[in-house]
Amino acid sequence: MSEHNHLLYIETVGCQMNMLDSELVVAALRHQGYQLTSDVEQADTILFNTCSVREHAEHKIYSALGRLKHSRRQRPGQVIGVIGCMAQKDQELIFRRAPHVDLVVGTGQLAQIPELIDQSREGRQHRLAVSLDRRDATRQQVSDSFQSYDPLRDPEMRPSPFQAFVRIMIGCDKFCTYCVVPMTRGPEQSRPPADILSEARRLASEGVREITLLGQTVNSYRYAVDGRIWRMSDLLLALHDIEGLQRIKFVTDFPRDMSDDLLQAVRDLPRVSKYLHVPAQSGCDVMLKRMKRGYTVGEYREMMGRIRDTIPECAISSDFIVGFCGESEDSFQKSMDLLRESRFKNSFIFKYSPRPGTKAHELLADDVPEEVKRRRNHEMLALQNQISEEDNSRLIGRDFPILVEGLSKTARKEGLDDPRVGGALQESQSSQGSQAGCDDHPQLVGRTMCDRIVVFDGNPRMIGGFVDVHVYDCTQTTLLGTIITREYQHAGSDLLPILA
Ligand code: SAH
Ligand code: SF4
Ligand code: F3S
Repeated sequence: MSEHNHLLYIETVGCQMNMLDSELVVAALRHQGYQLTSDVEQADTILFNTCSVREHAEHKIYSALGRLKHSRRQRPGQVIGVIGCMAQKDQELIFRRAPHVDLVVGTGQLAQIPELIDQSREGRQHRLAVSLDRRDATRQQVSDSFQSYDPLRDPEMRPSPFQAFVRIMIGCDKFCTYCVVPMTRGPEQSRPPADILSEARRLASEGVREITLLGQTVNSYRYAVDGRIWRMSDLLLALHDIEGLQRIKFVTDFPRDMSDDLLQAVRDLPRVSKYLHVPAQSGCDVMLKRMKRGYTVGEYREMMGRIRDTIPECAISSDFIVGFCGESEDSFQKSMDLLRESRFKNSFIFKYSPRPGTKAHELLADDVPEEVKRRRNHEMLALQNQISEEDNSRLIGRDFPILVEGLSKTARKEGLDDPRVGGALQESQSSQGSQAGCDDHPQLVGRTMCDRIVVFDGNPRMIGGFVDVHVYDCTQTTLLGTIITREYQHAGSDLLPILA
């Protein structure tokens, strides 16, 4: 172990899996005496936890690295590390493009980071720790080289004291033709149920009230142990009994694996959020086939029907890619049709970005012009926003139990920040235009059982508890409400949320 008092700056892009990885890496470094700083100039250790899913995410990191070239020359003791998905994907290329980077550490080697940083400080050569390429070895060898990083959790390091991500699987075997994730995260590997349950129990005993289970295709979860196969629904049932846990969410679902037993578990277990994120990607069979998604639009519609029949109140969200190889205006209109009829709570809409190393990049021309991609993206977003606002406005006048997550973005901007609650709140899509509340009642943010964002004035002491909120207005992304309970229930109580 090195001498202490190091200052660490970390920047994280990408999905929730990366947010969890960063939390764990920071916790490990804090145990070694590191302190976090938000000022990159002050830091002697700089880490970028990276994403390769679209070119834009990589550009951002390479430009940030470019800006550090100068500072690195002035501070010989500084260590700069690139970790995560782009580290696994680009490997030595990162050293070639940014020679001042000391460390490149893939998603399967995160446990080695403290030691690798120490080694870097001692001697200046480049250090590379990555997993095997999926084409270069047997499945078992590749899987073994992608070590899931699940150290004991540090309650101090959670972005929120009562919410936590819990990894239930790593990797992906779907190989959608546009996607880098099967390469950057390796083969699909489910985590043993006993480990997941003991982590969740520990989190609950430390005050966590809401867990979000993470996996690239979370509903493909399968684990054979003691002559029995655990499915996602079995896991939900077992987690549901943990004392203190009030809400369980899980992302992201794969349409073809949306089984009836899972839908019934979501329906029957009151603490499981009535919210499913199940990306469609396209509404056109030709595109879906070219993407190798493994289902037709008809099958996706059938799945949506089963969700609505089993859990009528369920909120569903989706992802779409526009401008994929060969997407005609007619194909695009089919995606618009699917969006229109599905009434998703929200959708993430992306312009296709060709990724080296994927089948689509190798075999298919990226033939939709950028301005067409942009227009389709805008059109689809506008339609989704209209749908979200219509559906939100139907909730005006109703009351919902809300799990209070923290200060709203506006309140945080006004300097009412609580550093433990602030940073990682997932309300990035919300663009509320309301005021920040008065001083003793700043604006708070929380979510309904169906994952809808609600902002309301309240006392920061309510953070982490449930309150009943009356909805009086809405925007496309946010419900605006007022608290109707004087006595607020703390999340530890037995209050079982009604649905929103
Ligand atoms: N495992 C999840 C999604 C992982 S990536 C799933 O299968 O649903 C998150 C989203 O990024 C995807 O759903 C897809 O919509 C988008 N995406 C992935 N690769 C992309 C690419 N090359 N270009 C544009 N969007 C992409
Ligand atoms: Fe990528 Fe497809 Fe796997 Fe999702 S299911 S991570 S889109 S390959
Ligand atoms: Fe990006 Fe890796 Fe997540 S590529 S989306 S950070 S799994």
